[in-house]
Amino acid sequence: MNALVKPIAADRLPELLRRMPKAELHIHIEGSLEPELIFALAQRNAMAIPYPTVEDLRKAYAFTNLQSFLDIYYAGASVLIKEQDFYDMAHAYFARAAADHVVRAEIFFDPQTHTARGVAMDTVINGLHRACVDAKAEFGVDAALILCFLRHLSEEEAFETLEQALPYRDKFIGVGLDSSELGHPPEKFAKVFQRCKQLGFRLVAHAGEEGPPAYVWSALDVLKVERIDHGVQSSKDALLMQRLAKDRTPLTVCPLSNQKLCVYPNLADHNLGQLLDAGLCAMVNSDDPAYFGGYINDNFTQTFAATGLNAQHAYQLARNSFEASFISAEQKRRHTDHVSELFETFY
Ligand code: ADE
Ligand code: ZN
Repeated sequence: MNALVKPIAADRLPELLRRMPKAELHIHIEGSLEPELIFALAQRNAMAIPYPTVEDLRKAYAFTNLQSFLDIYYAGASVLIKEQDFYDMAHAYFARAAADHVVRAEIFFDPQTHTARGVAMDTVINGLHRACVDAKAEFGVDAALILCFLRHLSEEEAFETLEQALPYRDKFIGVGLDSSELGHPPEKFAKVFQRCKQLGFRLVAHAGEEGPPAYVWSALDVLKVERIDHGVQSSKDALLMQRLAKDRTPLTVCPLSNQKLCVYPNLADHNLGQLLDAGLCAMVNSDDPAYFGGYINDNFTQTFAATGLNAQHAYQLARNSFEASFISAEQKRRHTDHVSELFETFY
Protein backbone atom coordinates (compact mmCIF):
# COMPACT_ATOMS: atom_id res chain seq x y z
CA MET A 1 0.00 0.00 0.00
CA ASN A 2 1.42 3.38 -1.01
CA ALA A 3 1.40 5.81 1.90
CA LEU A 4 0.17 8.56 -0.40
CA VAL A 5 -3.20 6.97 -1.02
CA LYS A 6 -5.63 7.47 1.82
CA PRO A 7 -8.87 5.51 2.01
CA ILE A 8 -11.74 7.18 0.21
CA ALA A 9 -15.49 6.91 0.68
CA ALA A 10 -17.02 4.51 -1.83
CA ASP A 11 -19.40 7.17 -3.13
CA ARG A 12 -16.44 9.49 -3.99
CA LEU A 13 -14.42 6.86 -5.87
CA PRO A 14 -16.20 7.21 -9.27
CA GLU A 15 -15.46 10.95 -9.27
CA LEU A 16 -11.77 10.28 -8.55
CA LEU A 17 -11.65 7.66 -11.32
CA ARG A 18 -13.19 10.09 -13.79
CA ARG A 19 -10.96 13.01 -12.88
CA MET A 20 -7.58 11.31 -12.69
CA PRO A 21 -5.24 11.97 -15.63
CA LYS A 22 -4.71 8.82 -17.67
CA ALA A 23 -3.17 7.41 -20.82
CA GLU A 24 -5.20 5.21 -23.15
CA LEU A 25 -2.95 2.65 -24.83
CA HIS A 26 -5.43 0.18 -26.31
CA ILE A 27 -8.06 1.77 -28.51
CA HIS A 28 -8.80 0.66 -32.08
CA ILE A 29 -9.86 3.85 -33.80
CA GLU A 30 -12.24 1.89 -36.05
CA GLY A 31 -13.82 0.61 -32.83
CA SER A 32 -14.70 4.17 -31.84
CA LEU A 33 -17.04 4.51 -34.83
CA GLU A 34 -20.43 5.14 -33.24
CA PRO A 35 -23.57 3.91 -35.04
CA GLU A 36 -24.69 7.51 -35.59
CA LEU A 37 -21.42 8.28 -37.40
CA ILE A 38 -21.67 5.03 -39.40
CA PHE A 39 -25.05 6.21 -40.68
CA ALA A 40 -23.81 9.76 -41.34
CA LEU A 41 -20.74 8.57 -43.27
CA ALA A 42 -22.79 6.02 -45.24
CA GLN A 43 -25.10 8.82 -46.32
CA ARG A 44 -22.18 11.13 -47.17
CA ASN A 45 -20.61 8.37 -49.28
CA ALA A 46 -23.93 7.26 -50.85
CA MET A 47 -23.67 3.77 -49.38
CA ALA A 48 -26.44 1.48 -48.19
CA ILE A 49 -26.48 -0.02 -44.68
CA PRO A 50 -28.27 -3.32 -44.06
CA TYR A 51 -30.03 -1.91 -40.96
CA PRO A 52 -33.00 0.46 -41.17
CA THR A 53 -32.08 2.58 -38.12
CA VAL A 54 -29.25 3.38 -35.71
CA GLU A 55 -31.15 1.49 -33.01
CA ASP A 56 -31.42 -1.62 -35.19
CA LEU A 57 -27.67 -1.53 -35.80
CA ARG A 58 -26.96 -1.10 -32.09
CA LYS A 59 -29.20 -4.08 -31.33
CA ALA A 60 -26.92 -6.24 -33.51
CA TYR A 61 -24.09 -5.60 -31.02
CA ALA A 62 -24.64 -8.85 -29.10
CA PHE A 63 -21.43 -10.82 -29.27
CA THR A 64 -20.55 -14.36 -28.21
CA ASN A 65 -16.80 -14.25 -28.82
CA LEU A 66 -14.10 -12.21 -30.58
CA GLN A 67 -14.95 -13.42 -34.10
CA SER A 68 -18.65 -12.58 -33.77
CA PHE A 69 -17.57 -9.01 -32.94
CA LEU A 70 -14.92 -8.73 -35.67
CA ASP A 71 -17.44 -9.64 -38.38
CA ILE A 72 -19.61 -6.64 -37.53
CA TYR A 73 -16.66 -4.35 -36.74
CA TYR A 74 -15.15 -4.84 -40.22
CA ALA A 75 -18.58 -4.27 -41.79
CA GLY A 76 -18.94 -1.01 -39.82
CA ALA A 77 -15.52 0.23 -40.99
CA SER A 78 -16.58 -0.14 -44.64
CA VAL A 79 -18.23 3.33 -44.57
CA LEU A 80 -14.77 4.95 -44.23
CA ILE A 81 -13.78 6.08 -47.71
CA LYS A 82 -12.30 9.59 -47.73
CA GLU A 83 -9.55 11.23 -45.69
CA GLN A 84 -12.15 13.41 -43.98
CA ASP A 85 -14.03 10.27 -42.82
CA PHE A 86 -10.94 9.04 -40.98
CA TYR A 87 -10.39 12.51 -39.57
CA ASP A 88 -13.98 12.82 -38.33
CA MET A 89 -13.89 9.40 -36.66
CA ALA A 90 -10.66 10.18 -34.79
CA HIS A 91 -11.76 13.72 -33.92
CA ALA A 92 -14.92 12.35 -32.29
CA TYR A 93 -12.81 9.92 -30.25
CA PHE A 94 -10.48 12.69 -29.06
CA ALA A 95 -13.41 14.82 -27.87
CA ARG A 96 -14.64 11.90 -25.74
CA ALA A 97 -11.16 10.96 -24.54
CA ALA A 98 -10.48 14.54 -23.41
CA ALA A 99 -13.76 14.57 -21.47
CA ASP A 100 -12.49 11.42 -19.68
CA HIS A 101 -9.20 13.16 -18.75
CA VAL A 102 -7.13 11.15 -21.21
CA VAL A 103 -3.97 13.20 -21.75
CA ARG A 104 -2.08 10.68 -23.87
CA ALA A 105 -3.58 8.27 -26.43
CA GLU A 106 -1.73 5.63 -28.43
CA ILE A 107 -4.16 4.62 -31.13
CA PHE A 108 -4.36 1.44 -33.21
CA PHE A 109 -5.47 1.52 -36.80
CA ASP A 110 -6.05 -1.39 -39.19
CA PRO A 111 -4.87 -0.26 -42.66
CA GLN A 112 -5.55 -3.63 -44.30
CA THR A 113 -9.25 -3.28 -43.51
CA HIS A 114 -9.25 -0.23 -45.77
CA THR A 115 -6.62 -0.94 -48.43
CA ALA A 116 -8.40 -4.25 -49.17
CA ARG A 117 -11.44 -2.13 -50.17
CA GLY A 118 -9.39 0.11 -52.47
CA VAL A 119 -8.83 2.96 -49.99
CA ALA A 120 -5.28 4.29 -50.37
CA MET A 121 -2.81 4.11 -47.47
CA ASP A 122 -2.24 7.88 -47.62
CA THR A 123 -6.00 8.51 -47.22
CA VAL A 124 -6.02 6.46 -44.01
CA ILE A 125 -2.82 7.73 -42.45
CA ASN A 126 -3.17 11.38 -43.44
CA GLY A 127 -6.73 11.61 -42.09
CA LEU A 128 -5.83 10.00 -38.78
CA HIS A 129 -2.58 11.93 -38.44
CA ARG A 130 -4.28 15.29 -39.04
CA ALA A 131 -6.77 14.45 -36.28
CA CYS A 132 -3.87 13.58 -33.95
CA VAL A 133 -2.19 16.94 -34.63
CA ASP A 134 -5.46 18.83 -34.03
CA ALA A 135 -6.17 16.81 -30.85
CA LYS A 136 -3.23 18.44 -29.14
CA ALA A 137 -4.29 21.98 -30.07
CA GLU A 138 -8.03 21.54 -29.60
CA PHE A 139 -8.27 19.11 -26.66
CA GLY A 140 -4.79 19.00 -25.12
CA VAL A 141 -4.58 15.27 -25.91
CA ASP A 142 -1.12 14.09 -26.94
CA ALA A 143 -1.70 11.35 -29.53
CA ALA A 144 0.29 8.85 -31.56
CA LEU A 145 -0.64 6.10 -34.03
CA ILE A 146 0.24 2.38 -34.01
CA LEU A 147 -0.27 0.41 -37.23
CA CYS A 148 -1.75 -3.06 -36.65
CA PHE A 149 -1.29 -6.06 -38.91
CA LEU A 150 -4.34 -8.31 -39.23
CA ARG A 151 -3.29 -11.72 -37.98
CA HIS A 152 -5.94 -13.66 -39.95
CA LEU A 153 -4.06 -12.54 -43.09
CA SER A 154 -0.61 -13.78 -44.13
CA GLU A 155 2.80 -12.50 -43.07
CA GLU A 156 3.45 -11.70 -46.74
CA GLU A 157 0.44 -9.36 -46.71
CA ALA A 158 1.78 -7.78 -43.52
CA PHE A 159 5.09 -7.12 -45.32
CA GLU A 160 3.20 -5.53 -48.25
CA THR A 161 1.30 -3.31 -45.79
CA LEU A 162 4.54 -2.27 -44.12
CA GLU A 163 6.00 -1.32 -47.52
CA GLN A 164 2.93 0.76 -48.36
CA ALA A 165 3.11 2.53 -44.98
CA LEU A 166 6.85 3.26 -44.92
CA PRO A 167 6.55 6.53 -46.89
CA TYR A 168 4.51 7.76 -43.87
CA ARG A 169 6.79 6.32 -41.20
CA ASP A 170 7.04 9.66 -39.39
CA LYS A 171 3.25 9.49 -38.80
CA PHE A 172 3.13 6.29 -36.72
CA ILE A 173 5.32 5.23 -33.82
CA GLY A 174 4.89 1.49 -33.77
CA VAL A 175 3.24 -1.68 -35.01
CA GLY A 176 0.83 -4.12 -33.41
CA LEU A 177 -1.00 -7.35 -34.16
CA ASP A 178 -4.77 -7.74 -33.91
CA SER A 179 -7.87 -9.53 -35.30
CA SER A 180 -8.74 -13.25 -34.86
CA GLU A 181 -6.35 -14.66 -32.27
CA LEU A 182 -7.07 -18.39 -32.06
CA GLY A 183 -5.19 -20.31 -34.75
CA HIS A 184 -2.98 -17.30 -35.54
CA PRO A 185 -0.13 -17.39 -33.00
CA PRO A 186 2.34 -14.50 -32.78
CA GLU A 187 5.19 -16.52 -34.32
CA LYS A 188 3.33 -16.42 -37.66
CA PHE A 189 4.60 -12.81 -37.84
CA ALA A 190 8.17 -13.35 -36.58
CA LYS A 191 9.93 -11.98 -39.67
CA VAL A 192 7.83 -8.87 -40.15
CA PHE A 193 8.19 -7.92 -36.47
CA GLN A 194 11.95 -8.46 -36.71
CA ARG A 195 12.00 -6.07 -39.67
CA CYS A 196 9.89 -3.51 -37.79
CA LYS A 197 12.26 -3.71 -34.84
CA GLN A 198 15.22 -3.06 -37.17
CA LEU A 199 13.34 -0.05 -38.54
CA GLY A 200 13.04 1.36 -35.03
CA PHE A 201 9.29 0.94 -34.49
CA ARG A 202 7.82 0.30 -31.05
CA LEU A 203 6.33 -3.21 -30.89
CA VAL A 204 3.10 -4.44 -29.29
CA ALA A 205 0.77 -7.39 -29.94
CA HIS A 206 -2.61 -8.70 -28.85
CA ALA A 207 -2.00 -11.96 -26.99
CA GLY A 208 -3.86 -13.89 -24.31
CA GLU A 209 -7.23 -12.27 -25.04
CA GLU A 210 -8.90 -15.57 -25.98
CA GLY A 211 -5.65 -17.36 -26.80
CA PRO A 212 -3.53 -19.38 -24.36
CA PRO A 213 -0.57 -18.18 -22.24
CA ALA A 214 1.72 -19.76 -24.89
CA TYR A 215 0.74 -16.89 -27.22
CA VAL A 216 1.89 -14.37 -24.60
CA TRP A 217 5.22 -16.20 -24.26
CA SER A 218 5.78 -16.13 -28.02
CA ALA A 219 4.74 -12.49 -28.33
CA LEU A 220 7.46 -11.73 -25.76
CA ASP A 221 10.18 -14.14 -26.88
CA VAL A 222 9.63 -14.36 -30.64
CA LEU A 223 8.13 -11.00 -31.57
CA LYS A 224 10.00 -9.16 -28.78
CA VAL A 225 7.06 -6.89 -28.06
CA GLU A 226 7.26 -4.22 -25.36
CA ARG A 227 3.60 -4.47 -24.32
CA ILE A 228 0.97 -7.19 -24.42
CA ASP A 229 -2.52 -6.11 -25.47
CA HIS A 230 -5.10 -7.80 -23.22
CA GLY A 231 -2.93 -10.61 -21.81
CA VAL A 232 -5.57 -11.55 -19.25
CA GLN A 233 -5.10 -15.28 -19.92
CA SER A 234 -1.60 -14.92 -18.41
CA SER A 235 -3.05 -15.52 -14.96
CA LYS A 236 -3.42 -19.21 -15.94
CA ASP A 237 0.40 -19.57 -15.97
CA ALA A 238 2.25 -18.86 -12.71
CA LEU A 239 5.68 -18.72 -14.38
CA LEU A 240 4.43 -16.23 -16.95
CA MET A 241 2.95 -14.06 -14.18
CA GLN A 242 6.36 -14.00 -12.47
CA ARG A 243 8.06 -13.03 -15.73
CA LEU A 244 5.56 -10.22 -16.44
CA ALA A 245 5.87 -8.90 -12.90
CA LYS A 246 9.68 -9.04 -12.88
CA ASP A 247 10.00 -7.23 -16.22
CA ARG A 248 7.05 -4.89 -15.57
CA THR A 249 5.82 -5.81 -19.06
CA PRO A 250 2.62 -3.81 -19.47
CA LEU A 251 -0.74 -5.51 -20.08
CA THR A 252 -3.25 -3.18 -21.75
CA VAL A 253 -6.39 -4.59 -20.16
CA CYS A 254 -9.90 -3.85 -21.53
CA PRO A 255 -12.52 -5.00 -19.00
CA LEU A 256 -15.75 -4.10 -20.83
CA SER A 257 -14.40 -5.71 -24.01
CA ASN A 258 -13.64 -8.89 -22.07
CA GLN A 259 -17.15 -8.89 -20.68
CA LYS A 260 -18.89 -8.18 -24.01
CA LEU A 261 -16.83 -10.85 -25.82
CA CYS A 262 -17.61 -13.38 -23.07
CA VAL A 263 -14.00 -13.79 -21.89
CA TYR A 264 -15.46 -12.96 -18.45
CA PRO A 265 -19.26 -13.03 -18.76
CA ASN A 266 -19.49 -11.15 -15.44
CA LEU A 267 -17.34 -8.09 -14.81
CA ALA A 268 -17.20 -9.18 -11.16
CA ASP A 269 -15.09 -12.16 -12.27
CA HIS A 270 -12.49 -10.05 -14.08
CA ASN A 271 -8.89 -10.66 -12.98
CA LEU A 272 -7.67 -7.03 -13.11
CA GLY A 273 -7.28 -6.92 -9.32
CA GLN A 274 -5.33 -10.19 -9.37
CA LEU A 275 -2.95 -8.81 -12.02
CA LEU A 276 -2.33 -5.62 -10.03
CA ASP A 277 -1.93 -7.43 -6.72
CA ALA A 278 0.67 -9.72 -8.38
CA GLY A 279 2.71 -6.60 -9.26
CA LEU A 280 1.98 -6.48 -12.99
CA CYS A 281 1.92 -3.20 -14.90
CA ALA A 282 -1.73 -3.45 -15.97
CA MET A 283 -3.93 -0.52 -16.85
CA VAL A 284 -7.50 0.10 -18.08
CA ASN A 285 -8.45 0.78 -21.72
CA SER A 286 -11.58 0.78 -23.87
CA ASP A 287 -10.54 -1.37 -26.91
CA ASP A 288 -13.59 -0.69 -29.14
CA PRO A 289 -15.74 1.71 -27.11
CA ALA A 290 -18.52 2.22 -29.67
CA TYR A 291 -19.18 -1.54 -29.66
CA PHE A 292 -18.60 -2.47 -26.02
CA GLY A 293 -20.81 0.03 -24.26
CA GLY A 294 -18.34 2.53 -22.93
CA TYR A 295 -15.26 4.71 -23.16
CA ILE A 296 -12.34 4.59 -20.75
CA ASN A 297 -14.10 6.15 -17.76
CA ASP A 298 -17.04 3.74 -18.17
CA ASN A 299 -14.47 0.93 -18.05
CA PHE A 300 -13.03 2.34 -14.84
CA THR A 301 -16.28 3.05 -13.02
CA GLN A 302 -18.07 -0.17 -13.99
CA THR A 303 -15.06 -2.39 -13.24
CA PHE A 304 -14.45 -0.79 -9.84
CA ALA A 305 -18.14 -1.07 -8.95
CA ALA A 306 -18.26 -4.74 -9.97
CA THR A 307 -14.96 -5.94 -8.49
CA GLY A 308 -14.50 -3.77 -5.41
CA LEU A 309 -11.14 -2.31 -6.44
CA ASN A 310 -10.12 0.65 -4.26
CA ALA A 311 -8.34 4.02 -4.43
CA GLN A 312 -4.91 2.36 -4.19
CA HIS A 313 -5.73 0.34 -7.31
CA ALA A 314 -6.93 3.52 -9.04
CA TYR A 315 -3.64 5.27 -8.24
CA GLN A 316 -1.64 2.30 -9.52
CA LEU A 317 -3.68 2.04 -12.74
CA ALA A 318 -3.22 5.74 -13.56
CA ARG A 319 0.53 5.57 -12.88
CA ASN A 320 0.88 2.31 -14.85
CA SER A 321 -0.78 3.90 -17.87
CA PHE A 322 2.01 6.48 -18.08
CA GLU A 323 4.78 4.04 -17.16
CA ALA A 324 3.63 1.80 -20.05
CA SER A 325 3.26 4.59 -22.60
CA PHE A 326 5.77 5.42 -25.33
CA ILE A 327 6.48 8.95 -24.07
CA SER A 328 9.76 10.32 -22.71
CA ALA A 329 10.87 9.76 -19.12
CA GLU A 330 10.37 13.48 -18.52
CA GLN A 331 6.77 13.37 -19.80
CA LYS A 332 6.09 10.27 -17.68
CA ARG A 333 7.32 12.10 -14.60
CA ARG A 334 5.18 15.15 -15.34
CA HIS A 335 2.00 13.09 -15.80
CA THR A 336 2.58 10.87 -12.77
CA ASP A 337 3.24 14.00 -10.69
CA HIS A 338 -0.22 15.22 -11.74
CA VAL A 339 -1.72 11.90 -10.66
CA SER A 340 -0.04 12.20 -7.27
CA GLU A 341 -1.21 15.81 -6.84
CA LEU A 342 -4.82 14.81 -7.49
CA PHE A 343 -4.67 11.94 -4.99
CA GLU A 344 -3.13 14.24 -2.36
CA THR A 345 -5.72 16.98 -2.75
CA PHE A 346 -8.91 15.12 -3.68
CA TYR A 347 -10.21 14.46 -0.17
N1 ADE B 1 -9.60 -5.56 -33.39
C1 ADE B 1 -10.42 -4.70 -32.79
N2 ADE B 1 -10.68 -5.08 -31.55
C2 ADE B 1 -9.99 -6.22 -31.33
C3 ADE B 1 -9.84 -7.10 -30.25
N3 ADE B 1 -10.45 -6.90 -29.08
N4 ADE B 1 -9.07 -8.18 -30.39
C4 ADE B 1 -8.45 -8.41 -31.55
N5 ADE B 1 -8.55 -7.62 -32.62
C5 ADE B 1 -9.31 -6.53 -32.52
ZN1 ZN C 1 -7.81 -4.68 -29.05
